[in-house]
Amino acid sequence: MIILKKNFRIVLMFLIMLAGRSVHAQQKPENQNETWLTRSIEVSRQQLLLASKYYAPGMNPRSVWPNGELRYATPRDWTSGFFPGSLWLIYELNGDQFFKTQAERFTAGIDSVQYFTHTHDLGFMHRCSYGNGYRLTGNEAYKEALITGARSLATRYSDAVGCIRSWDMPPYNYPVIVDNMMNLELLTWASKATGESKFMEMALSHANNTIKNHYRPDNSSYHLVDYNPKNGKIIEKMTVQGYADESSWARGQAWGLYGFTMMYRETNREHYLEQAKKIAHFLMNHPRLPENKIPYWDFDTNHIPNDYRDASAAAIMASAFLELSTLTDNSEYFLLAETMLKNLSGSQYLAEVGQNNYFILKHSVGHLPGYSEIDVPINYADYYFLEALARYINMTKGKKND
Ligand code: GLY
Repeated sequence: MIILKKNFRIVLMFLIMLAGRSVHAQQKPENQNETWLTRSIEVSRQQLLLASKYYAPGMNPRSVWPNGELRYATPRDWTSGFFPGSLWLIYELNGDQFFKTQAERFTAGIDSVQYFTHTHDLGFMHRCSYGNGYRLTGNEAYKEALITGARSLATRYSDAVGCIRSWDMPPYNYPVIVDNMMNLELLTWASKATGESKFMEMALSHANNTIKNHYRPDNSSYHLVDYNPKNGKIIEKMTVQGYADESSWARGQAWGLYGFTMMYRETNREHYLEQAKKIAHFLMNHPRLPENKIPYWDFDTNHIPNDYRDASAAAIMASAFLELSTLTDNSEYFLLAETMLKNLSGSQYLAEVGQNNYFILKHSVGHLPGYSEIDVPINYADYYFLEALARYINMTKGKKND
């Protein structure tokens, strides 16, 4: 994932801003002298500092169980790359060598994922950890791990279906979830890094089939399309994590927006940009996108407006809308992302330092129909929030943020 080129002026600005602040200082009340941006980055820094001292590599913080205890991510958990990724991003934001050391330590803790082949989520797991590490340090060992991981992901591709298989578990035949768009970036990267076109061909085929089979006429997406593995015919379209088969699960829409924006950046093919713009149009004009732009966990539940919001969906959308605005020069995308980030940076969503099990954001929903991770902090919300903040800083450097 691209975020920032080296920007020493911004790094310097934050170093000066952060100098002298106590690691253990409590979060200050919001005040006029502290912008939402500086506050959210400082809270992130302090939470990640505490988390990196408290948690151990290989047992990364994932979310919170209903009884309030921490839910850990071991290396094979699909979310294992997000915590090392957040450490790389805060290192990028403030240039503090402490965070580089921590990012290296927690990335090493998931070293075995490169040989794992039983999930499509290898893209998330590798790109956030090793991918950021390689981008920021040029460490060749990280490059090798990424290539090995891409080879593992490629084992899940079927010529008969033209897609990467998402999950191995029953009762599905050949399930492909819209989330899988995010994993394609490992393949596009590997194609460029190795010169092997097969990785790019797989990514293109998967993305093209996703446009054809996951998207509805209104440009919302099904969560899961189940294919016949022998001939690629569609068996069923349905949801697993959303409210209903025909509903619009918010994070799924966010993955699609991000995924097609990324595919356009990676390939320069116009139809991916068109798809991203169509998804953006669906989201921006949705009558049930709340005024503060933090979506309900699904756009179509019967309980709106008294239903849970999903901060993770907002963070992913914010990061994607920022990138889309750079690819289109559409300031509406930028303004929407800015509103999302400002609201995520308010006390309703941003943690108090030392609280929230050291996560940065509160109020995400993982898998509500599975009674799992409902209205809790989750590590990928934090990762995409930091990525969006970094993109925002890069886009607004030299301008006043308030
Ligand atoms: N499967 C990834 C997610 O829950 O969004």
